[in-house]
This record gives sequence, C-alpha cells and structure tokens, in this order.
Amino acid sequence: MAAWPGVIQHYRPLLELPAEAPALTLLEGNTPLVPSVRLVHSLGAEALYFKFEGLNPTGSFKDRGMAVAVSEALARGVKGLICASTGNTAASAAAYAARAGLSCLVLLPQGQVAAGKLAAAQAHSARVVQVQGSFDQALELVRAAAERLPIGLVNSLNPFRLEGQKTAAFEIAEVLGRAPDWLALPVGNAGNITAYWMGFQQHHLARSSGLPRLLGVQASGAAPLVLGHAVEHPQTVATAIRIGRPARGDQALEAVRQSGGALIAVEDRAILEAQRQLALEGLWVEPASAAGLAGMLEQVQSGALDLRGQTVVCVCTGHGLKDPQVGWAPADLEAIPPELGALERLLGT
Ligand code: F0G
Repeated sequence: MAAWPGVIQHYRPLLELPAEAPALTLLEGNTPLVPSVRLVHSLGAEALYFKFEGLNPTGSFKDRGMAVAVSEALARGVKGLICASTGNTAASAAAYAARAGLSCLVLLPQGQVAAGKLAAAQAHSARVVQVQGSFDQALELVRAAAERLPIGLVNSLNPFRLEGQKTAAFEIAEVLGRAPDWLALPVGNAGNITAYWMGFQQHHLARSSGLPRLLGVQASGAAPLVLGHAVEHPQTVATAIRIGRPARGDQALEAVRQSGGALIAVEDRAILEAQRQLALEGLWVEPASAAGLAGMLEQVQSGALDLRGQTVVCVCTGHGLKDPQVGWAPADLEAIPPELGALERLLGT
C-alpha cells in the first residue's frame, strides 16, 4: 500500500477546495477504527468501534479540518491565522501555521484550557492570549477581527474546516464497508457532528453506504442544544466542550433530526466513568472524548436504546495526554526503596 499522503491528497476530488490550494499536510487522518473487546458487551451491541482521533499529529480530530482550512487560507494569500479555542483548535492551528510559515494568534478562555494544549500551542510559537471571559466571548472577538483584517479565521465557522473533518466519515464507511447504525460523539461548538453528517451523506450518495443515526452528546453543565437556549456560564470537567453558544448549533440539530438520532446531555461523573472504561480497553482519551461512549452507555442503561444487532462507532476526539491532570492523583502512587526485598513484598512473594 502506498504511504498515506494526508487528507487533502488522499481525498482531493471529494473536497470543495480551490484547485490552487496547496496540499498542506502533517499526514493527518487515516486513524484506526479500534474494535472494542469489553464495552461492546456492556452496550449489548453487535459491534462497537472507537475512531481514535487522538492519534492525529497534534492529538485531536482538528488536524483534518486544519489542513484544509490552512491550505485554503494560503491560496487566498493571508499572512496570519486566528482562532478562539478551548485548546485543541489552538494546538492544531499553531502546528499547521508553523508548517505553512504563517503567524498564528489564539485566544483562550482564561484558566480553562488543559495544560497539554496550551503547551503545544506555545511550542509551535503561536501567540497565545487568554481572554478574561468564556470561549463564546473569545469566538465573538476573533470573528469580528477576521471580518476587518486580512487574517484567516480557522474556527469551524470556516467551511473548509468541515470539508477536512468530513473525511473521518469517509474512513469509517470505507473500513466497515458501510455506515455504522449509530455514530456517537461529543458536541461542543457543533462543527464536528455537522462535518460527519456531511461526510456520511456524501459517501452515501456516491456509494449507497447508508447513513448512521447520530448521537450527539453534551456535558450537562454545558448543554445549550439539549436545553434549547444559550448557557451563559457553562461548566464541565470536559473543558474541550465547555461551550454555551455553539456556532453551528442549528446545523447540528438539523443533522441529528435528519439522521433519526438524538442530542443528549450526560453528567461529568458519567463522562469520567466512560473515560476510565476506555482506558481499561487500552485507549486513553481526554474527558470530552469519552462523552460519546458515556451517552451510549446512558441510553442503553436507561432503556432508551436497544443496540442488539447494531454496529456502533464512538468517536474519541482527542488524546488523554492533552489533559493529564484530570483523574491523576500523584499522591496515590506507591513508593518503595530500591531493594529487591521491597519489590518481593509488593509482589506478595
Ligand atoms: N472533542 C474535543 C477533544 C474537542 O476539542 C472538541 C472541540 C470537541 C470534541 C467538540 O467538537 O466543537 O466541533 O462540536 N474543541 C474546540 C477547540 C471547541 O477549540 O478545540 P465541536
């Protein structure tokens, strides 16, 4: 098999992207669809897979969309990029900006971004600025700035972000030979669920691969799409999806409705339990990334869903390394002196 060339080169004929846009890449995409060995039984499904997007170059699904959005921005001749972010978009924008030789300014909600994401954005020499407010306020600011200045906005308001992110749906349909019956994923600003729906629809039109039902999952303290109104002060341990006014909320609701799926909210405690369960299957994901599985487990346990005979894909959007503080208790680590006797006592021999 030829080496994977990244999402633009691999999927170019299927992307709305100007011909003059270069194929900028860090070889994002082509992430594994990992079969579940244990949780599949908890769900009572025929098959369960995890689309492990944490294995993209900067550790999240954003890289698919960023490759395409930054390529298009280069074709337009912009000199710099700008975004608001709960962290992963920042890390991804910073990496692709560095690759493209563009400057990058990221606005983050103060004190609400996981350390690994901040460190990555700074490592790639982005200018990182904290806004004394929420993600939603930061997004409003960058949106207004991008309207006035020749800078490329690379939040998922940018349609080229969705063009890139829809490629994950193509990959799933290709590996399974058809769309899954259910696709579960976390919802924050609602770009990714919108992109998946675009991708599955496009694949179905071309190949009759079928369409999944979408289960979009928000954290209960940050669930504007479930509540039906904006949330002024969103709260959740899953900081990636701590968003109160999703920019693509209407499109996400429409995608879920068309698919015959549901948009639900789960408690932080369910998200952390799903994160733990995924780790026990060998996949370490950041808290937000476990929301899709948390939602599926909740739906099955409450009797709202019966997954017998069904194939389910949970999208794990980002890597656990991004946010190691959550669920980590250094004080609990055992310690022994460097002596064989101590190790033997530990092993009970
Ligand atoms: N999962 C992770 C790990 C994320 O970082 C995000 C969004 C989502 C899920 C939700 O995706 O916004 O398209 O509905 N993170 C954005 C950011 C907001 O700035 O990194 P969405």
